[in-house]
Amino acid sequence: MNNMVNNKLQFPFFNWHLEISSKCRLACPRCPRTEKRGMYKVTELPLEFIQKNFPADFLQQNVKRMLFCGGQGDPIYNSQFLEIVQYIKKSHPKITLCIITNGSHKNQSFWQELGEALNHNDQIFFSVDGWDNESNQLYRKYSDFDSILLGIQTLRPFPVQISWSTIVFRFNQDRLVHIGRIAKENGADYFNINLSMLFGSMYENYIDSELGFDPLEPEYSKLVSPIERHRKYSFRLNSERQASGLDETFRKFYAQAKKNYKDAEVLPLCMAGNRPMYIDAEGFFYPCSWVSHPFGVRKSKLRPNKQIRWKESYWNEHKHLFDLKSRSLPEITSDSIFTKLYESWFDREKLFVECESKCAKDITSYATAYAKAFDNFSDIKMFTQKPS
Ligand SMILES: C[S@@+](CC[C@H](N)C(=O)[O-])C[C@H]1O[C@@H](n2cnc3c(N)ncnc32)[C@H](O)[C@@H]1O
Ligand code: SF4
Ligand code: SF4
Repeated sequence: MNNMVNNKLQFPFFNWHLEISSKCRLACPRCPRTEKRGMYKVTELPLEFIQKNFPADFLQQNVKRMLFCGGQGDPIYNSQFLEIVQYIKKSHPKITLCIITNGSHKNQSFWQELGEALNHNDQIFFSVDGWDNESNQLYRKYSDFDSILLGIQTLRPFPVQISWSTIVFRFNQDRLVHIGRIAKENGADYFNINLSMLFGSMYENYIDSELGFDPLEPEYSKLVSPIERHRKYSFRLNSERQASGLDETFRKFYAQAKKNYKDAEVLPLCMAGNRPMYIDAEGFFYPCSWVSHPFGVRKSKLRPNKQIRWKESYWNEHKHLFDLKSRSLPEITSDSIFTKLYESWFDREKLFVECESKCAKDITSYATAYAKAFDNFSDIKMFTQKPS
C-alpha cells in the first residue's frame, strides 16, 4: 500500500491520535485524569513538536486522519491549540481532523478562529451529557453549558461537521430525546448516544456502599452484554453535512490485516488502521492508546496466572525508546523493540495483556466486534468515528 512509510512493522500511518493536552478544566469522576491523578503528567505538545514530527510533506503523503482527544485531558486547553490546528490544516487541507472536547470555557473569538481554520473534511465532537448547566454538571463537573452552546453556535456557519455526543447515565436515561432536540436546535449535524462500560455492574468499586448500586449507572445496563456497551448510536440531524468518506481506506487496511494476521491470536487493530497510532501529551509514541495508559495491575483473561503491574510493564520500562523528543518517528517505528510486539501476536503465551483484552479473536473484544461490523459491512461508523 503506498500510504505506508518504511518502518519495520509497516504501521499504518494514515490514522493518528495525538493527545495534544493532558490539561482539563473539568473533573469528570470516571475520567482517568480524576481516577489516576498523579500517575500522569499534566502537560501539552507544543506546536514546534508537531511541526518537527509532522512536516507538511509527511502529512500530505501519509496522513488521512488525525484525532485530537485527550487520554487524560482535553485538546482545547493546549495553549497553542489554534496555531496547531492552523498548521495542520494549512499543510494538508484534505486531512480529516477530528477534535473531541467538552467544549467549555472558551470565548466566541476562539470558536470563530477555529471555524475559519477547519473545512468540510473535519469533525468536532462536543461531549455533553446534560440538557442544562445543572444536569450537565452531574457528570461533567465544572463544565459551563452556555459556553458549550456558544461554541456550537459560533462554529455552525462553517463547513466543519459538528457532533453532540452524550453518554447514557441514570440521570439522563429518560431525557435523551430532549437532549437530542437541544443538539439539533443549536446546529449539531449528528447526535451520538454512547454507552459506557464504566459502571458498577462491570466494576464493583463503582458501587455505592450505602445505596448498594452505582448511582450513575443507567437501568438499561442490566439488559446489555459487555461487548454491546462499546456501541455508539449515531443520529443524523442535518442532511447536508455527511460524515467523511474514509470508510474505503479503513476497509482496505482491514482486508490486508485480516490476511496478514490470519494465523495470529489477535487481529491487531493498530495494524488494521482502526486503532490510531498514538502520541501522548509528553511526546511518547505508542502503537495504540490502550498500551499507553497507566494502570495498577492488569490480569489476563486467557491465562489465569498472568498479571502485569504498570511499573514493570514493557511499555513503561522501555519508555525512553519511544520518546519523540529525542528520537525520530522512523527511528522509533523501525526499532527492533517492536519485534517483541509482533511476535507476541502469534504466540498466546507471549501475548501482551492489553492486546489480549482488546484485540484477541476468541474472546469478546474490540477486534471481534470490529471484524463483525466489517464482515457484515454494517455499522462501521461506530468504529471509525469516535473512539472511547
Ligand atoms: C478522557 S476524554 C478526553 C476528551 C474530552 N475531554 C471529552 O471529555 O470529550 C476521552 C473520551 O472519554 C469519554 N468519557 C469520559 N467519561 C466517560 C465514561 N464515564 N464512560 C465512557 N466514556 C467516557 C469522553 O466523552 C471522551 O469521548
Ligand atoms: S472533560 Fe474529558 S478530559 Fe476533562 S475530565 Fe471530563 S472526560 Fe476527562
Ligand atoms: S492492544 Fe495491542 S494489538 Fe491491539 S491495537 Fe493496541 S498494540 Fe495493537
